[in-house]
Amino acid sequence: MKDRILTEEKLEEDQEEANIRPETLEDYIGQTELKENISVYIKAAKMRDESLDHVLLYGPPGLGKTTMAYIIANELGSNIKTASGPAIEKSGYLASILSSLEEGDVLFIDEIHRMPRFIEEILYPAMEDFVLDIVVGTESSSRNIRIDLPPFTLVGATTRAGDLSAPLRDRFGIVSKLNYYTVEELTKIVKRSAKVFHCEIEEEAAIELATRSRGTPRIANRLLRRVRDFALVEGNGIIDYPITTFALDRLKVDRLGLDSTDYNLLKAIIERFNGGPVGIEALSSSIGEEQSTIEDVYEPYLLQTGLLKRTSRGRMVTKKAYDHLQIPCPKQLEET
Ligand SMILES: Nc1ncnc2c1ncn2[C@@H]1O[C@H](COP(=O)(O)OP(=O)(O)OP(=O)(O)O)[C@@H](O)[C@H]1O
Ligand SMILES: [Mg+2]
Repeated sequence: MKDRILTEEKLEEDQEEANIRPETLEDYIGQTELKENISVYIKAAKMRDESLDHVLLYGPPGLGKTTMAYIIANELGSNIKTASGPAIEKSGYLASILSSLEEGDVLFIDEIHRMPRFIEEILYPAMEDFVLDIVVGTESSSRNIRIDLPPFTLVGATTRAGDLSAPLRDRFGIVSKLNYYTVEELTKIVKRSAKVFHCEIEEEAAIELATRSRGTPRIANRLLRRVRDFALVEGNGIIDYPITTFALDRLKVDRLGLDSTDYNLLKAIIERFNGGPVGIEALSSSIGEEQSTIEDVYEPYLLQTGLLKRTSRGRMVTKKAYDHLQIPCPKQLEET
């Protein structure tokens, strides 16, 4: 998992992300519906001179949630303060962040589903009424005090919307899911990033990179950086189609953007479970990966590409998976 180039999770080398991150809605490629809606809400909030409603962004890693949070602040002309769900362990810490907010600020909380419940409860009145209830004094003489907060916008991001408690979810006025990107959109992203890198890339090369990026901008940008290295060392610096396929084959990223981990998973279902259905527990112990890793990292893309199906009795591979792995497909699947 750690060495996997195709992981959607952020890696150290993705630090360079800051430079290629779009800063305006106009530069943010794809997610058209989200973009159009957010643009209207931002304009309306500005016209009314009110803070923007709280926004919850959810979807698989690397699709642009953090990027969108920064863009929202930028388009509002506001400052952004950031915190991460699991890092907020003490109520005092959250209280200090909240009380440092200025009117119209954006507070971005990443991985908001990992915030402890008692911390969440501090957020409820803050989100709803812009007040902060805190307990002061020692145990024997403690009292509650209420502090007014300036109107602000909470932007929450999560990869697991299902793990969010209902009362928290209900307090977001704008809830939006980010979807995997199309090849066309990823092609634009790749070309835009190449421009930022001052690197020449041919159209077919950009399309090939986009095709193998699992619908995920973070992966597209990462593969672009690797291919750029191959182009420099093994080619003439220009990213053309031959150097792209050469590099991607060397990186063992196949035509659908699958790597050996995906192959292992699909093969395990085919060889050890007759193609499924197989329960997540059995699959997890069979390939030695945690259930949550399978569910959050491997499975979404396999489901998206139609290689894997989820049924009420468990996971099943599809005819497309047999064909892609060049394994003869059982008769009963052939007919469906
Ligand atoms: N719509 C987009 N247009 C162009 N580039 C994008 C877009 N969305 C994401 N990117 C690029 O992909 C990278 C990853 O995006 P980002 O960090 O926002 O993902 P994320 O959804 O917050 O991931 P995580 O769940 O891991 O926090 C960004 O640095 C940015 O360069
Ligand atoms: Mg993020």
